[in-house]
Amino acid sequence: MSGSHRDSNRSVCDLAYCTMIELGVNIDHIATIRQARRGLEPDPVWAAVQAELGGADGITFHLREDRRHMQDHDIERLAQVVQTQLNFELAAVDEVIAVACRIQPNMAMLVPERREEVTTEGGLDVAGQRDRIRSIVSRFHDLGIRASAFIDPEVSQIEAAAEAGFDVCELHTGPYALAFEKHRDPLLPPVQQELARIRDGIRCVLDQKMQCNAGHGLNYRNVQYIAAMPGLNELHIGHSIVSRAVFHGMQEAVREMKRLMTEAASTASS
Ligand code: PXP
Repeated sequence: MSGSHRDSNRSVCDLAYCTMIELGVNIDHIATIRQARRGLEPDPVWAAVQAELGGADGITFHLREDRRHMQDHDIERLAQVVQTQLNFELAAVDEVIAVACRIQPNMAMLVPERREEVTTEGGLDVAGQRDRIRSIVSRFHDLGIRASAFIDPEVSQIEAAAEAGFDVCELHTGPYALAFEKHRDPLLPPVQQELARIRDGIRCVLDQKMQCNAGHGLNYRNVQYIAAMPGLNELHIGHSIVSRAVFHGMQEAVREMKRLMTEAASTASS
């Protein structure tokens, strides 16, 4: 994801076998905290700048149809501010597709979306809606936007993604993350099974001449086993980074508030 988000379209072959693994930081949950009060802070655009200063290779966001976290004005500002790669996650919904076409991110990542879900639950069913998906991918390509499919590591879906013209598949690591959380030991068969599914999926994506990314549910305990897999280009991680950032900043935030209060109280009494 090197360079400005305006210089997109590196060839898939350049990327497929490189050994560097890159990080796309998903900033949605900064907006989730802001929307709890529907105010101005914390600002996800500010979070994007901080993430880039921390070494993020790209900034990822999901503009949901119900606008539960990121808002349209966030997207406009992100497009102006982000210096790395801008990755726009969206459902195959006309109104949001129109926003993506206007903003022209580096990459448009198609995901399934259900209003009642807490987060993206499963991969996109590309195989079940080939024609519609193919026409969306071709709209993105006409604008120079790379297209990524968030899918389960299943041969039928990967082949359908290749047929639809996707440049990238993002393999869904959620089931692996859940298995890891439950069993707490990467060597146990249920976790090994999920790792094997992802490993096979990577091979299949590369065989189909697409770039292979992965994401969902990755955190500071489980990421190593995914990041070590050859053939992966980018990981997209949000919730665990935002959660960790809250605690990294908590002591300093409390210290600053106490200092302000103490100074004000002592000025008032002097
Ligand atoms: N990739 C996709 C397609 C997603 O939908 C999400 C969640 O928005 C992520 C990656 C990041 O997942 P998490 O927040 O669990 O790290």
